[in-house]
Amino acid sequence: MLNPAHIRSQFPILNREMNGCPLIYLDHAASAQKPVAVIEAQREYLMHLHANVHRGVHSLSQQATDAFEKARETVRRHLNAAHVEEIIWTAGATDAINLVSQSWGRTQIQAGDVILLTRMEHHANIVPWQLLAEERQARIEVVEINENGELNEADFQEKLKLNPKLVALSHVSNAMGTINDVKRWTDAAQAIGARVLIDGCQAVPHMEVDVMALDCDFYVFSGHKTYGPTGIGVLYGKKELLESMPPWRGGGEMIDVVSLEKGTTYAGLPHKFEAGTPHISGAIALGVALDWMSGVGLQSIGDHETTLGAQARHLLAKVDGLRFIGTAEKKTGVVSFIVDGVHPYDIGTLLDPMGIAVRTGHHCNQPLMEHYGIPGTVRASFGAYNTLQEVDALSAGVERAVRMLR
Ligand SMILES: Cc1ncc(COP(=O)(O)O)c(C=O)c1O
Repeated sequence: MLNPAHIRSQFPILNREMNGCPLIYLDHAASAQKPVAVIEAQREYLMHLHANVHRGVHSLSQQATDAFEKARETVRRHLNAAHVEEIIWTAGATDAINLVSQSWGRTQIQAGDVILLTRMEHHANIVPWQLLAEERQARIEVVEINENGELNEADFQEKLKLNPKLVALSHVSNAMGTINDVKRWTDAAQAIGARVLIDGCQAVPHMEVDVMALDCDFYVFSGHKTYGPTGIGVLYGKKELLESMPPWRGGGEMIDVVSLEKGTTYAGLPHKFEAGTPHISGAIALGVALDWMSGVGLQSIGDHETTLGAQARHLLAKVDGLRFIGTAEKKTGVVSFIVDGVHPYDIGTLLDPMGIAVRTGHHCNQPLMEHYGIPGTVRASFGAYNTLQEVDALSAGVERAVRMLR
C-alpha cells in the first residue's frame, strides 16, 4: 500500500500555496510533478557531471556518457525491451511519433495506403499521420468508440478489412482514462500485416508496460508525465524495424563518416536517430524517475489512483446535471465531466482561486469532443501524490462553482 504522506514529502512543489490556499494539483495527465530524487539528479548532473556525450576522450565526457547510457538501460529494463539499442531518446512523445511518421512512414506509406487511428487519439497521434497522409496521398481511417468511451470492437474488425499499413492507438486515453486492450489489438492488427504504434503517454506513469509481451512495433511516451523532466521522451522500436528505417534528422551524433565528396554514412542504433546534442540531464533524470516509480511500486501507484478516481466519481455524481465523459469498465484514475448549462472553462476558473488545478477544454482531443458534441470537459487526473482529502476538496469545490454559475 502506498503511503501518500511519505510520497508527498518528496514533492517540494506540493508545499506551495496557490491563491492563498494549499495547492491541490489534479493535472497529472498534462504533466506530473517531480520528486526530489528527480530534481536532485538533474542538479547533480549540472553541478558535477556535465560534458557533451559520446564526443570526448576526457574523463568528464566519459562519465557523462556512462550516466546517459545507463539511463537508456533503465528505460530498456522498465519497458522490458529486448535490446538497449531499441530505446531512442526523443524530445517527447510528439517528437517520437513524428520520427516514426517521417522515417518509417515516408518510406513505407504509398498512395492509397490506409493508416488506422482511433477516435480517442491525442492530436500528437493524429496530426503527424495527417501530414504524412497528405504528402503520400494515403488515407486516414478511424475506429469509433461506444458511449462509454471504449473502442468499438466491431468497427475495429471492420476497419482491419481495409488492410491498414499501420494501426496507431493510445494505450490509455488522456481525456477519459480508458485503458485499451492493446495486446489484443496489436495481435489482430499484426495478423493482417499491419505495423502497430502504441502511444503510451498515459500508461507508463500508471502501470507496468512490457513491450516484449505486447509485441508492438513502436511504443512512445513522454518523460514529463512520468515524474521526469520536460523535453525528453522515448521511442521504443523493434530492432530490425529501426535498423531498416532511414535517419530522420541529420547532424552530429547520428553519423559514421561525413564526406563532402563521398556523402555520409550513418551511425548504428540508437544514435542514428539522435542527431545533435541530446537532453543529457533530462535523460538521466528520466532514468531516476522510472526507478523512483519502481521503488514506490507500479501496482501500488495504479491502485491508489484508481481508488482516488472511483471516489471522485462517487462524490461528483451527486452534483446536479453532472455527466461523466468516459465511463469505460477499465479506466485509470482520470475523471472527465461536464455539467449541464455550465461551461467547463468556468468551472476550472472558479476552482483556481480555491487552489485546485484541473484541466479544462478539449485536452488535445478535438475529434473526441466532436463525437460527444461538447466543447470540452473538466478533467481531474491523479498521481501517486494525490489524496482522498484532495478528492473531497475537488468535489466540494465543483459543487460550489456550479452553485455560483447557475
Ligand atoms: C496520450 C497522449 N499522447 C501524446 C501526448 C503528447 O505528449 P508531449 O506533449 O509530451 O509530446 C500527450 C500529452 O498530453 C498525451 O496525453
